[in-house]
Amino acid sequence: YNVVFVSAEAAPYSKTGGLGDVCGSLPIVLAARGHRVMVVSPRYQNGTAADQKYSGAVDLETRVKVYCFGGEQEVSFYHEYRAGVDWVFVDHPSYHRPGSPYGDSLGAFGDNQFRFTLLCHAACEAPLVLPLGGFTYGEKSLFMVNDWHAGLVPLLLAAKYRPYGVYKDARSILVIHNLAHQGVEPGVTYKNLGLPAEWYGALEWVFPTWARAHALDKGEAVNILKGAIVTSDRILTVSKGYSWEITTVEGGYGLNELLSSRKSVITGITNGVDVVEWNPSTDVHTASHYSADDLSGKVQCKLALQKELGLPLRPDCPLIGFVGRLDYQKGIDLIQSGMPLLMEDDVQFVMLGSGDPVCEDWMRAAEATYKDKFRGWVGFNVPVSHRITAGCDILLMPSRFEPCGLNQLYAMRYGTVPVVHSTGGLRDTVVNFNPYAQGGKGDGTGWTFSPLTKESMLAALKLACRTFREYKPSWEGLMKRGMERDFTWESAAIKYEQVFGWAFIDPPYVK
Ligand code: ADP
Ligand code: GLC
Repeated sequence: YNVVFVSAEAAPYSKTGGLGDVCGSLPIVLAARGHRVMVVSPRYQNGTAADQKYSGAVDLETRVKVYCFGGEQEVSFYHEYRAGVDWVFVDHPSYHRPGSPYGDSLGAFGDNQFRFTLLCHAACEAPLVLPLGGFTYGEKSLFMVNDWHAGLVPLLLAAKYRPYGVYKDARSILVIHNLAHQGVEPGVTYKNLGLPAEWYGALEWVFPTWARAHALDKGEAVNILKGAIVTSDRILTVSKGYSWEITTVEGGYGLNELLSSRKSVITGITNGVDVVEWNPSTDVHTASHYSADDLSGKVQCKLALQKELGLPLRPDCPLIGFVGRLDYQKGIDLIQSGMPLLMEDDVQFVMLGSGDPVCEDWMRAAEATYKDKFRGWVGFNVPVSHRITAGCDILLMPSRFEPCGLNQLYAMRYGTVPVVHSTGGLRDTVVNFNPYAQGGKGDGTGWTFSPLTKESMLAALKLACRTFREYKPSWEGLMKRGMERDFTWESAAIKYEQVFGWAFIDPPYVK
């Protein structure tokens, strides 16, 4: 297939979380399996130090005019052919500011709707106008629409292109990485999107049941993700568990009924791991190397991490880690409330994260309170995230919800035992430890706790720490079973291909 990924993030160029990881690695695996693959994302921070990452990309000298927001915008395209993939970066002055793809220390950028509207228009043009390697991708392209930032793509195909006979053979697959973010703005902003006027509210006439299911686009607000759910040919989520959760009131964020109505086209596929970047036997960021056959290097990684953090060098003391965005989703409040009790125990704890400034301050303050036990590293730092994954004994993820979660997968590959809230992709990928299975040898790869309370989190951590201290063979079993699991993208890619096939069996969902 000719596959066009549209995404706000693609590692290593841009990344704030797992979306960047997925859009940086899955395309490469698909390309290696014989597909023609392009990834379209913004060229952030042009002209700043951070744009080093884009230094391999050249200006294709193709300019496209986009009509939106009451005017005409010109975008250009940069291109780098790397690892078999066409990396295409849309260039526009609104991407050239410091900060993350979505905001800076003051909060989200106020014009994100504009920035991602441009991305979607440009992404729809790319397969038509860019002669990559001599040939355009053409009208039979398959668009992979990642989260709300790319959500206008299926709407544009249906409303802007197909009425004029263009993209009749194209298909789109919406990939939901996180339903909590939907791209909601006041209804008056609809006119800015560059869609025909009759499409606002029109969805109600075309699809009356869905409109009844939920009112977000009834003149009060524009919800871009909703539009994508309504118009894409198929829907993918990043784990099986999450594909069910989004159809429930608790996990549906107001879109559960709409999603239930499209249940027959929703598939859940668990994310894979970039096994080159995340490999304990070759990791360029860690002090030592190890594998399931020879675990001895892991304790070196632990001691090096304790040294780097200024914690007492103690191989016998359970070292617990956390890596992630400091966001309500990640259950940081549970960690905060559980901290005093946890710190009474003989443990060490390191947190790496950035995001909510209040949490960042709390991490700094906790360091001062628990001098010999706790370290809070504020910032986004990939090498440190590798060293924590390798050096810790336990990785804690008390996520409120987790569509897939990658850190628990990285942890298992590194023999670091995950303790996770039993939700979404965490429940799908971590098998709860059962010490009595296999004639007392035990099975499982970690601990999954539920309900989401401080008490059940602490109880799971206590069990984990006790197993670490007192039951070495059980612990080694946990480590090895985790390390031996298959989390490669190859197995996920085969399932993606099946969904690609399904997308092309029927005519486009919105003709
Ligand atoms: P989410 O996408 O919800 O943030 P995931 O577990 O899927 O959660 O992916 C998070 C990714 O971002 C992982 O690769 C993780 O290592 C990385 N990450 C998150 N916070 C940081 C940080 N402060 N420093 C370095 N890497 C981070
Ligand atoms: C989202 C989710 C996370 C998932 C990632 C990649 O950011 O929060 O659980 O792993 O996307 O799909």
